[in-house]
Amino acid sequence: MLDWTDRHARYMLRQISQRTLLYTEMVTTGALLHTNPARWLDYHHDEHPLALQLGGNQPHALAQCVKLAAQWQYDEVNLNVGCPSDRVQEGAFGACLMATPNIVADCVKAMQDASNLPITVKCRIGIDDQDEEQGLQDFIETVQAAGCKTFIVHARKAWLKGLSPKENREIPPLNYPRVHRLKKDFPDLELIINGGFKTLDECAEQLAHLDGVMIGREAYHNPMVLADADQRIFGATNAPICREALIHKMHAYAERQYRDGVAVKHITRHMLGLLHGIPGGRRWRRVLSEKAPRDGATPDILLEAWHAATH
Ligand SMILES: Cc1cc2nc3c(=O)[nH]c(=O)nc-3n(C[C@H](O)[C@H](O)[C@H](O)COP(=O)(O)O)c2cc1C
Repeated sequence: MLDWTDRHARYMLRQISQRTLLYTEMVTTGALLHTNPARWLDYHHDEHPLALQLGGNQPHALAQCVKLAAQWQYDEVNLNVGCPSDRVQEGAFGACLMATPNIVADCVKAMQDASNLPITVKCRIGIDDQDEEQGLQDFIETVQAAGCKTFIVHARKAWLKGLSPKENREIPPLNYPRVHRLKKDFPDLELIINGGFKTLDECAEQLAHLDGVMIGREAYHNPMVLADADQRIFGATNAPICREALIHKMHAYAERQYRDGVAVKHITRHMLGLLHGIPGGRRWRRVLSEKAPRDGATPDILLEAWHAATH
């Protein structure tokens, strides 16, 4: 998620769950190929398994980016065919590509030929007045024929004219049954559903129909929602991490980053939701949001905020 799932947010999420697949923010082919790629691609080795999400519509440029992803040892490359923002529409990529499945197929083919990495596609169930039944069927059929075996489907349409990106995550109605039918029509595809999931119970219900669930906003605003994921979903037998242990791990991480010149606020801004819905959460957020942005703030602010929350 743009501006949210940077490497610091992902490092924290990985401490909470070791088995879930994490995704980068969308990186455009232009940014990767025309600026310093390390700025976009560097990550901590603990973040694996990690997918790089690309935004673009040119097979050759996407293929070059996949080569970089392989060089940086990502585990998967995902093509964004779901983002409705104006900037992305001006570049003619993201969700508007749902109208041109042949272009997506050409992109997927070129991306697959560029490395051995799995290439996946994230899409919507349609855009604008596209038919949610036949339009989606045609899209998936064309793109899978190019070799894509995994689709992540945000189970609502994107309305490209008249709605902001935020509204496009809330207003078009969710249609989970449509994604379930897609799995029946394409049983060999790996289909992952996205949109509106807030608990592992809800995810477990979806896993009766589908191969996976992607959680976006809830994992950011309430990261401890993933605390039992390894045990409940993946069958791990180790105990889930508790908040206190997590905060000490993040303190150690923030100290290492601080020594490398990273201001503590860049890490703490992703941690405000760690005490979501539990006593002390407000005090935790207040200390972090008031003190971490100040000049001279050190990683010890995390210990101070935890103390304020728990005493
Ligand atoms: C701030 C923000 C940034 C996002 N950036 C991306 C992005 O870069 N790539 C993407 O595929 N989806 C992006 N999304 C959409 C989410 O991945 C997800 O599809 C959507 O929020 C619905 O899932 P959720 O209800 O679990 O959040 C973003 C969402 C938010 C709130």
